[in-house]
Amino acid sequence: MDLYEHQAQELFAKYGVPVGRMQVVHTAEEARTAAAEIGGRVVVKAQVKTGGRGKAGGVKLAAGPDAAHETAEAILGMDIKGHTVRKLLVTEASEIADEYYAALLLDRANRSFLAMVSRSGGMDIEQVAAEDPAALARLEVDPALGLKLEGAYQLCADAGLPSDVYDEVGEVLIKLWDVFRGEDATLVEINPLARLADGSVRALDGKVTVDDNARFRQPGHAAFVDNAATDPLELRAAEKHLNYVKLDGEVGVIGNGAGLVMSTLDVVAYAGERFGGVKPANFLDIGGGASAEVMANGLDIILGDPAVRSVFVNVFGGITACDAVANGIVQAIDLLTRRGEVIDKPLVVRLDGNNAAEGRRILAEAALDCVRTAETMDGAAALAAELASKGA
Ligand SMILES: Nc1ncnc2c1ncn2[C@@H]1O[C@H](COP(=O)(O)OP(=O)(O)OP(=O)(O)O)[C@@H](O)[C@H]1O
Ligand SMILES: [Mg+2]
Repeated sequence: MDLYEHQAQELFAKYGVPVGRMQVVHTAEEARTAAAEIGGRVVVKAQVKTGGRGKAGGVKLAAGPDAAHETAEAILGMDIKGHTVRKLLVTEASEIADEYYAALLLDRANRSFLAMVSRSGGMDIEQVAAEDPAALARLEVDPALGLKLEGAYQLCADAGLPSDVYDEVGEVLIKLWDVFRGEDATLVEINPLARLADGSVRALDGKVTVDDNARFRQPGHAAFVDNAATDPLELRAAEKHLNYVKLDGEVGVIGNGAGLVMSTLDVVAYAGERFGGVKPANFLDIGGGASAEVMANGLDIILGDPAVRSVFVNVFGGITACDAVANGIVQAIDLLTRRGEVIDKPLVVRLDGNNAAEGRRILAEAALDCVRTAETMDGAAALAAELASKGA
């Protein structure tokens, strides 16, 4: 889970990483009050889980409470890369002398942790890495030993920071490591880590990603979940314990087993090229023992997606044989119809593996208007893509 900047900053404060005074607000009026309480000039910042807020006009300096009100009005409701701004962070404006970059992350490719420091903060770090690689120092961190002062100083030196900030930046890096391990994060980033006019150092931005697999030992992270920012279909799927990921195409996909569903996405995208670039609308793995109820819940979620124009049900019968799955599909459609849902999108079903012939016979016998069958995965993908391109 990615955290909002204000949540990241809260964690920084908890671990002693220096941050400015700040308040989260939801209205322009609250922004005025917050600015008055903080005093002096403030920076009003859009809270959205995407980068490049500054460039999009979502980070603005305000001279005082009235200006903060006006700025907040302009930023609230703004769309930044598809994210609507619903809350703001009002922070004290800092006198910046210099901007650095600091990060700790899980380096999957090297199966270790990586610490990075740059003297070119405040800008896109991918750009720094591409244009001026020498400005970005890296250090592998042994998980058993952690980041020590020696490593932190090495990073400062390698990044070419002025030597009089080694102590302050080094200390921030050690505390950042505490955040990283203490919160089971996969990414902790400060950009910019600012050196202020008085020589002190302060995090002016924060980006933290926590590992959802550690949720069981991080009860505090539940408070970071923001349902308003989660896709409503994904929320409903999570309530039903379905493995569902919303994608941006038109062909709904259901399969049994993550590997099969992944390859189904590929096959649909490939077949879709012949039909005007039709793409999969989602990933949904209903797992091994798919009961009629699980199938109904899955179909319900997918058919509830207005972007879906056809559905591809791709099942390879194993322990749960195809006849059971076919009965599940028939019962699921019956269940949905009795729930009062109109199934007006075509379903293409491909059954293979254990008892496939019997499964197809059951579907043929049921003779459901919305269901078509196909023999092969490629054939089914092509049919589903074609139906989606014609529009349901
Ligand atoms: N409290 C502050 N005081 C003074 N300047 C600030 C403050 N916060 C941010 N800034 C300035 O605004 C710039 C952009 O802010 P920030 O890094 O938070 O947003 P961003 O990088 O554009 O957004 P994102 O991190 O989403 O890409 C900073 O590099 C810094 O120069
Ligand atoms: Mg930033």
